[in-house]
Amino acid sequence: MRTDVPHLLAERAREVEAHLESVVPSAETTPTALHAAMRHSLFAGGKRLRPALVLESARAAGLDPPTPALPVAAALEMIHTYSLIHDDLPCMDDDDLRRGRPTCHVVHGEAMAILAGDALLTLAFTHLGEAAQRGLIPAAALPRIVTTLGRCAGTPGGMVAGQVLDIEGEGKELDASAVDAIHRHKTGALIEASCVCGGLVAEPPEGIVKALSQYGRALGLAFQIVDDILDATSTCVALGKTAGKDIAQGKATYVSVHGLEAARAEAKHQAEQARGALASLGERGEPLASLVDFVIQRQR
Ligand code: FPP
Ligand code: MG
Repeated sequence: MRTDVPHLLAERAREVEAHLESVVPSAETTPTALHAAMRHSLFAGGKRLRPALVLESARAAGLDPPTPALPVAAALEMIHTYSLIHDDLPCMDDDDLRRGRPTCHVVHGEAMAILAGDALLTLAFTHLGEAAQRGLIPAAALPRIVTTLGRCAGTPGGMVAGQVLDIEGEGKELDASAVDAIHRHKTGALIEASCVCGGLVAEPPEGIVKALSQYGRALGLAFQIVDDILDATSTCVALGKTAGKDIAQGKATYVSVHGLEAARAEAKHQAEQARGALASLGERGEPLASLVDFVIQRQR
């Protein structure tokens, strides 16, 4: 049976938002300025794609319902949101629109935006530790979840390293392999982590973890290629963030290096790779396969 993806995403977003609400300090908790800044970006109506990938990967790995993976889903969204807050800072991409609203530093000031990002990153790991201590996620699975997440969010193979490559590449003529490396680190690694860490909560056989990792790698690259295509072809209103930024900032993208048609073809190719990686999961992989279609067809 085909998955109703909009329904699935709405359900998963509702679950993870309720969970985040129970974990993130209220705006009345001291220091209020910090918590208001964290909440400004966290509860801004993102697609919650990474949490959905965590939960559906856990389900595909045998955890049904995947509720025990909610702390991992929340941790992924906290780390993703921290990266967006820092990416929008004046010293990075200097953007004033994100998720359809003014960016964190525009509303809460630069110092509080930096600290909100720091606090979301650290809270993600605190939350995972506490969830394991309370028996919500299996304690035996925690070391690998934390290590995978830290590696994919950090350096040298993860998102922070990718952000550095992205900054260093600005205004330069990069070749296809350099753009590929930026995309795989900056965006792909955290998407792969979502799939692997979600799966790990189910403590499945190693073959399933490997399949989820291959799926996440291909999906992550497809996601960022589509992001490049949308940046070149869409509008600020449709995206909820500034369109046309890549050219304005002299960034090398799949579109600038390969052209629009070749970028579309490569996104399709990566989508096929992602679907192919699910073969060993059979029917249980169907929701993840449907999420590939969503990523390829998304308009924001
Ligand atoms: C959009 O996600 C996000 C990306 C395309 C990832 C871009 C990568 C960075 C900003 C890395 C930054 C790293 C550091 C360390 C500053 P989305 O379309 O799922 O957004 P949504 O959650 O708002 O829907
Ligand atoms: Mg950026």
